[in-house]
Amino acid sequence: MSLFRKKSVEHMLAASAQTADLKKALGALDLTFLGVGAIIGTGIFVLTGTGAVQAGPALMISFVIAAIACGFAALAYAEFASTIPVAGSIYTYSYATLGELAAWIIGWDLMLEYGLATSAVSVGWSGYLQSLLSGFGVSLPMALSAAPGAIPGHETLFNLPAFLVMMAITMLLSLGVRESARINNIMVAIKVVVVLLVIVVGVFHVTPANWHPFMPHGWSGVFGAAAVMFFAFIGFDSVSSAAEEVKNPKRDLPIGIIASLGVCGVLYVAVAAVVTGIVPSEKFMGISHPVSYALQLAGQNWVAGFIDLGAVLGMLTVILVMAYGQTRVIFAMSRDGLLPAKLSKVHPRFATPFFTTWLVGLFFGLIGALVPLNVLAELINIGTLAAFSMVSIAVLVLRKTHPELPRAFRCPGVPVVPVLAVASCLFLMLNLQGITWAAFVIWLLIGMVVYFGYSRRHSKLAK
Ligand code: ALA
Repeated sequence: MSLFRKKSVEHMLAASAQTADLKKALGALDLTFLGVGAIIGTGIFVLTGTGAVQAGPALMISFVIAAIACGFAALAYAEFASTIPVAGSIYTYSYATLGELAAWIIGWDLMLEYGLATSAVSVGWSGYLQSLLSGFGVSLPMALSAAPGAIPGHETLFNLPAFLVMMAITMLLSLGVRESARINNIMVAIKVVVVLLVIVVGVFHVTPANWHPFMPHGWSGVFGAAAVMFFAFIGFDSVSSAAEEVKNPKRDLPIGIIASLGVCGVLYVAVAAVVTGIVPSEKFMGISHPVSYALQLAGQNWVAGFIDLGAVLGMLTVILVMAYGQTRVIFAMSRDGLLPAKLSKVHPRFATPFFTTWLVGLFFGLIGALVPLNVLAELINIGTLAAFSMVSIAVLVLRKTHPELPRAFRCPGVPVVPVLAVASCLFLMLNLQGITWAAFVIWLLIGMVVYFGYSRRHSKLAK
């Protein structure tokens, strides 16, 4: 039974009463900005290339499928995240409601999601930085430009820019720099402008013949690409996690979630239409900056340069937000005794988990330097989809077991919406590659070994 031991809800509510001074200041528009800021990044700027190779011009449909799956998951997630108004991640909520083992699995999953996401976005950033530099005639030695095996037919060893950007972000975080709402708004503006530029300029260079055949690899290509492009929507969870700081969560939260997914979905479909209309889809194979590449091929070098610059700036905040989330999940797990105490040590001067920040920064910096992007993206997706499925199931379970819990936001259409969320997450997971499943199962098994070998005995709750 100790596997299901739970933190007491009353205890957490009391703790939240102490920290109830979190201002309730956010409205639907703020939430939408928050979401778009966390969502637009490597997915649309880089993975679009991989997706186009896989699905062809039908990549547009892949984006729609991924967005719909995200919409269901986001509604269920929002209820879970707003049950028990305590600041923290879904790891914390699951500890109080589902018990220690489920919380451990979700926390272990989130570590994979956030950690590898920082690596993945740093790889995307590197591709655009190199494209930007090449506009000035500067190029890196091939060996230092990408991870081994990332560019078919080229000898690459280490993605130096990806590693360096992670070190820079790690330094900022370890010194206590966080993204402010103002910076986020500026970044959102830059990213949206860049994406609109792609659409508005690109549309004049579309050759409709490039849209035939529309589905060169049939539905399996479309579904496979949807499973990969799910990555482009990750970050919408940040909207749900802000539940406690929302003025009118019942109304604003669903609007914020649907609006940020909707805005990004529409932009993504348009970008997919434009870039696959400019360039025959198979030409994106091995291209690390597909969106600006399409405009370069269209002869719009200036616009391509602006896109490179906007992507380089805009992706920085995605790395920062993900890295921040990563250190805070580890911090919470360590404070509960599930991970070694050293990982929740706070630096006396900077008031940050300094050691943890550098440990994960170096680790995931090296992963970004050494592992190709598509491998990373699939792994992140499977971890995230698994976590969202568990959360959606939890919403159903909690309605039965804890009907009385305070919920700032209630998922509409229960049980249909959470069931659709689980089904669509599982469907996307099944469309990921076998090797990704193998890696995911190994990650979970390692998690079980750590849990039964260490965490269970050191858990503060046990004592
Ligand atoms: N959705 C985020 C991105 O595409 C993770 O970079």
